[in-house]
Amino acid sequence: MNEMADALRFYRDLGFEEIYVRRSEVATAAAPAPTPVVAVTPKQERPVVITPAAPAPLFTPSSETLEQVRADLGECTRCKLHSTRHSIVFGSGNPKAEVVFVGEGPGADEDAQGLPFVGRAGQLLTQMIDNSAQRMGVPLRRADCYICNVVKCRPPANRTPEKDEMETCSPFLMRQIAAIAPRAIVVLGATAARALLGTNEPMHRLRGQWFDFHGAKLLVTFHPAYLLRDPHKKKEAWEDMQQLFRFLYDR
Ligand code: URA
Repeated sequence: MNEMADALRFYRDLGFEEIYVRRSEVATAAAPAPTPVVAVTPKQERPVVITPAAPAPLFTPSSETLEQVRADLGECTRCKLHSTRHSIVFGSGNPKAEVVFVGEGPGADEDAQGLPFVGRAGQLLTQMIDNSAQRMGVPLRRADCYICNVVKCRPPANRTPEKDEMETCSPFLMRQIAAIAPRAIVVLGATAARALLGTNEPMHRLRGQWFDFHGAKLLVTFHPAYLLRDPHKKKEAWEDMQQLFRFLYDR
């Protein structure tokens, strides 16, 4: 413990404000049964993030705007999902959001309205954000966030997007995230986690911990549609939201 305290003091002296032992990002997600290595300062008893005082930029700083990414997407026909969609669901919310929520793909309501998470799952997502923030006393609401999906067109009959569809659409998601440059990304469900982290790890191995993602912090939580089917998991989703707000607001 003394060695750790010495090491923490050493890094503080170097100008690091917050310190943790970085787990390798995507590799960590794919690694078998990793033991989290998180330094906890003896006084604070909370895991802290090791980032130099000035946080690393997301990707290379993007000079692209969301409008430019949307314009490049155009009336996309790059994958087979285009043939059954009614609208492209690009994303919505604050283009300067500190947090981006990423779902799997639009459902019927989203396809009809051209907006993400507007159906039943969307209403629950709104509650997850707004109610948890309110309970924690932080001023964040859904409208302050940016919300989008891995694939921008509805998969027929709400099937899971296929690998080639996610691979075709993912570059646009990456460009959206780079244009926004959020501090945190919340990935909703295992399919979106697979797309972003490149892992097949089950949800219970992924949720509730931070991953480093190109200079942003990435948290995986349950998809709200899953929570509608299994409301018992809402407690864990609430814990994930608390973790998000603790990070964003240094609580
Ligand atoms: N489910 C998703 O993954 N995304 C939406 O936009 C709506 C439901």
